[in-house]
Amino acid sequence: MNWIKHTILAVVLLLGTNAFALNPNNENSNNDTEIQDKKEVSFIDICLSETSKNPYEILDKLMSQPSCRMHGPEHHVLVGAALLTAYKNAGGEINLKEALATMVERGGEVPGGACGKWGVCGAAVSAGIFMSIITDNSPFATQAWALSNQMTAQALADISKYGGPRCCKRDSFLAVLSAIDFVRLHLGIEMESPKNTTCSRSEQNQQCIGKQCPFNEINQSNNNRNMKSFGSKPWMVPQPVLIIGTYNEKQEANAMNAAWGGTWDAGEIMISMGSHATTENLKLNNGEFTVAFATSETMVASDFVGIVSAKNDPKKMEKTGWTVEKAPNINAPLFKEFPMVMECRIKEKIGEKGNSGYYLIAEVVNVLCDERYLNEQGNPDIEKMNIITFDPCNMKYVECRKCFL
Ligand SMILES: Cc1cc2nc3c(=O)[nH]c(=O)nc-3n(C[C@H](O)[C@H](O)[C@H](O)COP(=O)(O)O)c2cc1C
Repeated sequence: MNWIKHTILAVVLLLGTNAFALNPNNENSNNDTEIQDKKEVSFIDICLSETSKNPYEILDKLMSQPSCRMHGPEHHVLVGAALLTAYKNAGGEINLKEALATMVERGGEVPGGACGKWGVCGAAVSAGIFMSIITDNSPFATQAWALSNQMTAQALADISKYGGPRCCKRDSFLAVLSAIDFVRLHLGIEMESPKNTTCSRSEQNQQCIGKQCPFNEINQSNNNRNMKSFGSKPWMVPQPVLIIGTYNEKQEANAMNAAWGGTWDAGEIMISMGSHATTENLKLNNGEFTVAFATSETMVASDFVGIVSAKNDPKKMEKTGWTVEKAPNINAPLFKEFPMVMECRIKEKIGEKGNSGYYLIAEVVNVLCDERYLNEQGNPDIEKMNIITFDPCNMKYVECRKCFL
């Protein structure tokens, strides 16, 4: 593990910044002939003289140095170095020289093959190190700690989507693309995105995943896209997983699952209601009900209340294990396991014919959110809630956090 750290540190700190001997033994190289023909330039020098705000292009330049191999732990430094350079050029306030030295030190500690051995790709870690440096993170920090770990997580999610075998080029470029969006979203600094991301190194990679790679030529143009038809389907995505809470005539709580719902107007929601025990309950209590948002933690029971009716199973609610409490502003139950809940009252029923159901329009009387799920501004932080959505194409639940990453 330490060979690369010592090599880089020795080169950078003792000999100055005139070399980029990340691969002294030229191990694992797939472009030996190319190396002999090219002149090495220090990657620190490249970064310090660079004016581009585009970390993808900077990384490409750094990777084109003769000693940079097709695969190898040097990428654990180069990803962060490219990001630091672009970040600085885009207006980020950092001392680039010092930041690069820290990057070399920290990135050099991440061993080759960490993706396989630890399940943590070093390119993603490099993006996390970049975030730690620019936010001055430490194990005791609060916001910076969260951001740095989220940065690594996002890069890892983006990288792992394509499966293995690893490609240090693909994974490094993906980490950089993750960071461009992440920095814009969380720090408001606009690094530039690349216009062309076609891979020029696939022939040097014996394990290239070809058409599966997002940088493969075939994926660069919409002309190669084939669209499959599915006919008429009400596939609005993502769909919510709403848990509707009502009381029956005995003030006993019931819950059902509804995915066909959404915003109707300011302060109003709509739900497509079929004929259920809940529909009967909605004739009572002034049409009052709660709507909670299902989470990963409540997913199994949320599905259960969507497939079992209180008409058929008097112990339905008992089986969910949920803690029932009366909502403060309406006569409907709320279930304490859910982080956020809306207190609602029916305003209008559209298309009601007999008992076949209708489209329910309801005013939102109040929204309640568990204080543990608020952000720094005091608003509900849905990223903290592990909300799930319903995937109507595959009839399954999807965790929203996978969409956030
Ligand atoms: C994922 C999912 C989504 C559903 N969406 C709706 C919906 O939008 N509208 C509806 O009337 N029923 C929907 N249902 C069906 C009801 O939740 C289900 O019939 C439930 O058992 C009714 O319970 P109840 O009879 O105790 O009120 C959905 C069920 C599932 C599993």
